[in-house]
Amino acid sequence: MPAIAIIGAQWGDEGKGKATDLLGTSVDYVVKFNGGNNAGHTVVITQPDGSTEKYALHLLPSGILTPGCTPVIGNGVVVDLAVLFEELEALEARGVDVSRLRISANAHVIADYNRTLDKVTERFLGSRRIGTTGRGIGPTYADKMNRIGIRVQDLFDEKILTQKVESVLELKNQILTKIYNRRAATVEATVEELLAFADRLRPMVCDTGLLLNEALDRGETVLLEAGQATLLDVDHGTYPFVTSSSATAGGACTGSGIPPRRLEQVIGIVKAYTTRVGEGPFPTELHDDAGEHLRKVGAEYGTTTGRPRRCGWYDAVIARYAARVNGVTDFVLTKLDVLTGLEQVPVCVAYDVGGVRHDEMPVNQSDFHHAVPIYEYLPGWWEDISGARTLADLPPNAQAYIKAVEEMSGARISAVGVGPSRDATVAIHDLI
Ligand code: IMP
Repeated sequence: MPAIAIIGAQWGDEGKGKATDLLGTSVDYVVKFNGGNNAGHTVVITQPDGSTEKYALHLLPSGILTPGCTPVIGNGVVVDLAVLFEELEALEARGVDVSRLRISANAHVIADYNRTLDKVTERFLGSRRIGTTGRGIGPTYADKMNRIGIRVQDLFDEKILTQKVESVLELKNQILTKIYNRRAATVEATVEELLAFADRLRPMVCDTGLLLNEALDRGETVLLEAGQATLLDVDHGTYPFVTSSSATAGGACTGSGIPPRRLEQVIGIVKAYTTRVGEGPFPTELHDDAGEHLRKVGAEYGTTTGRPRRCGWYDAVIARYAARVNGVTDFVLTKLDVLTGLEQVPVCVAYDVGGVRHDEMPVNQSDFHHAVPIYEYLPGWWEDISGARTLADLPPNAQAYIKAVEEMSGARISAVGVGPSRDATVAIHDLI
């Protein structure tokens, strides 16, 4: 099998964890290729006795919950080691086998000074803040690009680690003390904090690019699971209101060491409405009761930060853009059940910017800030759809909604989520 990527088609929180979980045992490797513990996957698994178990993962790929699957943290990830071991211990306590986890020697680690810098920079920016998760993601990627980052492999050479920390702190401490009036970080404490994880980390670390390419050579299936989403991608998103990594299909290759021609399927996850956390433009955002309704019914509160998510209607312009940027082959439309009970369901088909219609994303960010959605209104449905498993089980208006959204969004819809658990899914086309 070729490699398959799963990417978010909006601003994150589309339900990528559930989609990964859907592919279940047909996947041999699940790779996280970007981001860090800014992500939040909620996976709900139905036990054989019918009870449900909910797992909130921030750093680990959701494939960690699939028996027989090898989870991989790729070179494109930034790793908070304390969070990594906290998550591993919590899963082990619930009986999940985590022994197969593999971590790239080239992944960067998030040091304490970068967590501090993320938070103080946001405070310093005030009304111009990005609304980051405050986990040190941006500063750690900035260090990577500045070539002053600390990589996982540095933890296995104390001399090199100390040298790197010494040189990076010469710069960071100037910023911490002189700009932000914070305490300086010490070389000893920083090195000690990182080295404390080295022994536990060592057996998990390898050349994950080699591991994954060899798996593909053997005909195994590798799933590349994006953190965040297309509109949060540092290149293709609503810059500067983006995360600092490549969350699109291209990033799946650079962040894992799998070459582009091995990536043959790209599954775009798109929610039946839109949400966003943090700052930045969001044309279909609702500031009224309808927005509150989506937030309440859809339980739209951040997995990582608990922040209420901004909510709005489905935006087909964004979906088309995501289909194009990522080469989406299949969409999984999630949370359709949240739209049940509406008289009419608005879908944004284009934008009006100063009297000019835009069918595609405006070239200039400032036009996107001023984009007014042009809606098409689709008839709603009232029936409980959570038990539907095929298209024919859905009320005609829900079927028509799926068909209309598919036509507008640039790729076929292969599955539709109708409830939180794995089996609450309408299957339309085989995903693998
Ligand atoms: P950072 O990734 O913490 O630097 O935050 C940058 C932007 O990405 C902020 O608007 C965050 O709210 C957003 N963001 C980061 N991770 C996620 C996610 O998993 N879901 C949705 N938004 C996210």
